[in-house]
Amino acid sequence: MKPVVELSDVWVELGGHTVLEGITMTVGEGEFVSVVGPNGAGKTTLLKVILGLIRPGQGEVRVFGKAPWALGRDRARIGYVPQTEEVDLSFPIRVIDVVLMGRYGALGWMRRPAAADRRAALEAMELVGIGDLADKVIGEISGGQRQRAFLARALAARPDLILLDEPTTGVDPAASGSFYDLLHRIQGRGVTILMVTHDIGVVSQFVDKVACINRKLVVHGRPEEVVTDEVLAEMYGCAALFFHHGRAPHMVVRPHRAFRREGER
Ligand SMILES: Nc1ncnc2c1ncn2[C@@H]1O[C@H](COP(=O)(O)OP(=O)(O)OP(=O)(O)O)[C@@H](O)[C@H]1O
Ligand SMILES: [Mg+2]
Repeated sequence: MKPVVELSDVWVELGGHTVLEGITMTVGEGEFVSVVGPNGAGKTTLLKVILGLIRPGQGEVRVFGKAPWALGRDRARIGYVPQTEEVDLSFPIRVIDVVLMGRYGALGWMRRPAAADRRAALEAMELVGIGDLADKVIGEISGGQRQRAFLARALAARPDLILLDEPTTGVDPAASGSFYDLLHRIQGRGVTILMVTHDIGVVSQFVDKVACINRKLVVHGRPEEVVTDEVLAEMYGCAALFFHHGRAPHMVVRPHRAFRREGER
C-alpha cells in the first residue's frame, strides 16, 4: 500500500513542554484511520504537523512523499475539518460561502470563484446531505448540519486526504454514527481519512486502524487488536471491556470480577 502520510520519530515541543514524543506511524492510501487519546494528548498537534502548520523539532514528516511545508500545489489535495472551538460561528456567512472557501487552495491566488467552483461546492454539499442548506447562515444551522458543512468545505477541492479533528463533538450518537458511515462511503471513493475522535467504541466498526496517542504513540493497528483493556487503562486510566461482534467491538464498563462469565477476561 502506497503511504500517504509518513511520520518518523517526530518530536514536538510547545511552550517549553514536549507535546509529541517520537511518533512513528504511516497512513496508507485509501485507509480510514482514527486517532484517539485523552485531552491534551497531542492529537490536534499531530494533525497540524501533517498540515505543515507546526514543524517538529526532530523527526521526518512526509505527505504525498514531500515535507508538508513544501507541498506546493499538492497542498490542495488535503482537506481539513478543524476542531469546532477553532471556528468563529458568529461570523454572518452563508453555508455555500463556507463550502466555497474549500476551493481557494484549488483556485490559486486572487482568482474569483467560477461556476465550476460553485458546482463543486454544491456537489460536496449534496454528497454530505445538506444540499438544501446553501443559503442558510452558518451560525443558524444545527451542530450536526454544521459538521457536515465543514466536511463539505474539506471535500470541495476533491482532496485525496482529509484530516478531521473531533468532527462529532456535541452531536448525538445516532447522528455521529451516520456521520462515520458517510466518511466510510467517502473512503469508498478512494479518499484517505485520518480522524481524531473520542468515540473510541463507536468508531471501531468504521475504521481500518486506530492510533492511540498519549504524547507517545501507545499503539497503532486494527481496532480489534489495539482497543483493549490495557490500552484504555494506559490512556484513560480506566479499564473497560470490549465485546467483539464481527468487526464491531462494543465498549462496556468492565463488570465486577464476581459477575464475569467464564471465558471473560
Ligand atoms: N500553541 C501552543 N503553545 C503552547 N502549548 C500548546 C500550544 N498548543 C497546544 N499546546 C499544548 O500541547 C498539548 C497538546 O495539545 P493538543 O491540542 O494537541 O491536544 P489534543 O490531544 O488535541 O487535546 P483535546 O482532546 O483537548 O483537543 C496540550 O498540553 C496543550 O496545552
Ligand atoms: Mg484537540
